[in-house]
Amino acid sequence: MERSKITPAHVRDMKRSGRKVAALTVHDYPSTRLLDEAGVPLLLVGDSLGMVVLGFPDTTHVTLEHMEHHVRAAARARPTALLVADLPYRTYETPADAVAAARRLVGAGAEGVKAEGGREILPQIRAVVEDGIPFVGHLGMLPQHVLEEGGYRIKGRDEVQRQVLLADAEALEAVGAFAVVLELVTPPVAAEISRLISIPTLGIGSGLDCDGQILVTMDLVGAFPWFTPKFVRKRMDAGALMTGVVQEWMREVSGAGLP
Ligand code: KIV
Repeated sequence: MERSKITPAHVRDMKRSGRKVAALTVHDYPSTRLLDEAGVPLLLVGDSLGMVVLGFPDTTHVTLEHMEHHVRAAARARPTALLVADLPYRTYETPADAVAAARRLVGAGAEGVKAEGGREILPQIRAVVEDGIPFVGHLGMLPQHVLEEGGYRIKGRDEVQRQVLLADAEALEAVGAFAVVLELVTPPVAAEISRLISIPTLGIGSGLDCDGQILVTMDLVGAFPWFTPKFVRKRMDAGALMTGVVQEWMREVSGAGLP
């Protein structure tokens, strides 16, 4: 059946009509085509690109040029899904920077952008939204802050963090974000945020009571076997399958007497 193009309004409406949003990362043309053909409504060119594709230790090494390159590849698949891209580390320090960086990602083919943070980046988010660029928020554990925080820590464990998260989520909705990622937020607080705001929450390691779930595709299919976050249930072992197939092919090659 022919699917019609997914827009930010469709994603927002999924919450209103009680449908959970499934979102996954893509970093290139084939993954975008495959996941789009599978029917995933929201695809994110995430800056997890830095680790699972580019081999960096964390996302702080990802540049706008890296993101543009991979957004262009994903956009060539012309997905029916909504294609959102991450604003990389330090590209949204001021409202003017945020708009300039978001425009570059849109120029590369993104249909929305995501950035990490709450009220501390509200002027930047407002500027992006006022520029007509759909925006997805990201609260909880913020991977771009891993160096300052000294690790990937669960958020929402105490009352202060809970209040901060609730207020940030409300602020993101008020400024015009159409969805918000909740990463490593304690499940009760993630559930509370999901009840509080009317835009969909996309949980990652934040329990099942979010309005949808988002994962790094490589984690879901086991294509980056050297590290899998604890909260991910690997659905296949693509790394092991690939190694097995390659070794089988090598045996055939040597059996045929080829070099
Ligand atoms: O970069 C990323 O992949 C993300 C996750 C939320 C999936 O931001």
